[in-house]
Amino acid sequence: MGTKSASFWVALMLVVLVPLMNFVDSKCILFNFGDSNSDTGGLTAGLGLYLGPPAGRTFFNRTTGRFCDGRLYIDFICEGLKINFLSHYLESSGPDFTHGVNFAVAGAATTTTAVPFPLSTQVFQFLHFKNKTRELRPQGRGSLIGEEEFRDAVYSFDIGQNDISIGFSNNLTYQQVVETFPDSISRIKNAVISIIENGGSKILIYNTGPLGCLPQTLALRKRDSSTLDSLGCLADYNNAAMAFNALLDLLCHDLRSQYDNVIIVCTDMYAIKYDLFANHTKFGFEHPLMACCGHGGPPYNYRNLMTCGQPTATACPIGTRAVSWDGVHYTEAANEIIASKILSSSYSTPQIKLSCLCN
Ligand SMILES: *[C@@H]1O[C@H](CO)[C@@H](O)[C@H](O)[C@H]1NC(C)=O
Ligand SMILES: *[C@@H]1O[C@H](CO)[C@@H](O)[C@H](O)[C@H]1NC(C)=O
Ligand SMILES: *[C@@H]1O[C@H](CO)[C@@H](O)[C@H](O)[C@H]1NC(C)=O
Ligand SMILES: *[C@@H]1O[C@H](CO)[C@@H](O)[C@H](O)[C@H]1NC(C)=O
Repeated sequence: MGTKSASFWVALMLVVLVPLMNFVDSKCILFNFGDSNSDTGGLTAGLGLYLGPPAGRTFFNRTTGRFCDGRLYIDFICEGLKINFLSHYLESSGPDFTHGVNFAVAGAATTTTAVPFPLSTQVFQFLHFKNKTRELRPQGRGSLIGEEEFRDAVYSFDIGQNDISIGFSNNLTYQQVVETFPDSISRIKNAVISIIENGGSKILIYNTGPLGCLPQTLALRKRDSSTLDSLGCLADYNNAAMAFNALLDLLCHDLRSQYDNVIIVCTDMYAIKYDLFANHTKFGFEHPLMACCGHGGPPYNYRNLMTCGQPTATACPIGTRAVSWDGVHYTEAANEIIASKILSSSYSTPQIKLSCLCN
């Protein structure tokens, strides 16, 4: 084969393969429901709030409404799936809904909180979005997500952390907090069933992380009588998270037996995040129980009303490897590791890679 014809074949392959590759990449659609762990701008859009610097300093260099110095784990997941970052449903100017929609709002729980976007509302918003998309698609307007794409999309849920923390903030005892969990789980169940009954066939449920290791929890909730675990985290809060997750496991099991034509993947976010605290030196993190951005210095660098973003707070030097950004939310560096562990599927049951699930 001469040089000329070889380059002809290369050119032909580029013409044929490049659009094909784009097509494969663009097939993955993700709809996400949750709280600040995966909020890419919902609270700020929904309530017209401004989340100023130093949020965004590591990656976006501007305010995006993410409670983080940079990308959230869901952003790294989008990068891993080769899809655009998900805009929030409520983003009014220039949203990008080509690869799905994010409905997660900071402060949201399964029930109504100070933030008016509980899980049930997020699901109604999705149903509204789907109806509106169907209405506009024939005119070539709107998000253009098609019927098969709604069916084949991945629907992810990351909620529960605020249910647990609200119980403790209301001064309920450990036992009383745990007694609220069956209601929370049944609300998650209802949300998932709504999605399934509206045609969703791929569900991803994240369980909740180690609340007792967050600098905010430690700074505000530790009492003289509190029990700490071997890492210095509040044992009651972590035990509550594990009790919540045990019920979530049962839910995953029930949903799988109830809907055998639906793929239900449950991912152990608790184990993923706990590993960051337990093995922090392996990941190059220092002082895992101390917020990077806050006030007060060691051990937690967290003080009420002097939190990250307020003039009284300062952030650790750029380049510091911290686990916690502001005492509640993880840093971009931590989120990158969290996402790579999610994408690996080693923490998922069944062990289906998100990249396979999504295409
Ligand atoms: C943010 O700023 C840094 C340093 O100037 C630059 O490397 C990076 O590309 C910027 N990020 C974005 C998303 O614009
Ligand atoms: C969506 O449309 C269906 C009818 O096509 C209607 O029954 C349902 O209430 C609508 N849901 C929302 C949230 O608009
Ligand atoms: C919980 O207890 C603390 C300390 O006793 C008190 O300051 C706070 O107001 C209580 N919170 C609620 C919601 O009752
Ligand atoms: C810490 O790392 C070790 C070695 O990789 C692993 O066996 C262990 O499970 C990790 N600890 C946690 C809590 O994940």
